[in-house]
Amino acid sequence: MDISIKRSHSGEHQTYSVPMENVTLLSMLNHIKAKIDPTLTYSHGCRSGVCGSCAVRVNGREQLLCAYKPTEGDVVEPLRSGRVIRDLVVDASAIDRLNLSAHTWSDSSLEVKVSPADAEGIETQSDCILCTSCLSACPVFAINPDFMGPFALTRVWRYVNDVRENDSGTKIATIQTNGIWDCTLCGECVPVCPAGIAPAQDIRMLRSKSGMMGYMDPSMSFGGVDFGTPMF
Ligand code: SF4
Ligand code: SF4
Ligand code: FES
Repeated sequence: MDISIKRSHSGEHQTYSVPMENVTLLSMLNHIKAKIDPTLTYSHGCRSGVCGSCAVRVNGREQLLCAYKPTEGDVVEPLRSGRVIRDLVVDASAIDRLNLSAHTWSDSSLEVKVSPADAEGIETQSDCILCTSCLSACPVFAINPDFMGPFALTRVWRYVNDVRENDSGTKIATIQTNGIWDCTLCGECVPVCPAGIAPAQDIRMLRSKSGMMGYMDPSMSFGGVDFGTPMF
């Protein structure tokens, strides 16, 4: 089977013929590295869809190396979520930077009982493996690197929706700038998520919650009135 991989030293796609079928793309890259081209560079860890370190783009769509099974002629490229360090390895510093800017943790918890239904409501978002596939697919992040982006905003919703959270107000205030209102709700982040998370839906929920707390889309402001701040 032939697959093409974008190489960083040349900027060109290099085609490799691999005598393998019905295996993961990771197995194929391991074969190429061991038998054909030791300079090929990519990252991986758990080999089971848990660590989030192996995401790439195949034919323009984000995939995990350890889950995707290649087909003839596939074109493999690095994610667009960070600077290319080498071949299929990209700088992952956006993870910390965006989590920090969106304040994606709880620092004020209540001691309350969590029902099975409460836990279920935040279960999916808690499964995020920080693969940054959603960020790579996001057209807003592509033109505004300060946009908090899908995985960080989904994580904010996970805490806002947690019955133990004692300070949703600060969380909602934090995501008003470079956050929920910059998202176009295009949904590109949804089908690429290997954990089944729908960040666009979570951002919609954060917008709704913001509205209930008196915030409005700043692009709706007029007459010098700033609707990006609470109305009460
Ligand atoms: S829905 Fe929003 S966060 Fe998701 S890809 Fe589109 S602009 Fe980005
Ligand atoms: S939300 Fe999904 S696609 Fe985005 S980083 Fe988390 S696991 Fe990856
Ligand atoms: S190697 Fe860990 S998710 Fe693929």
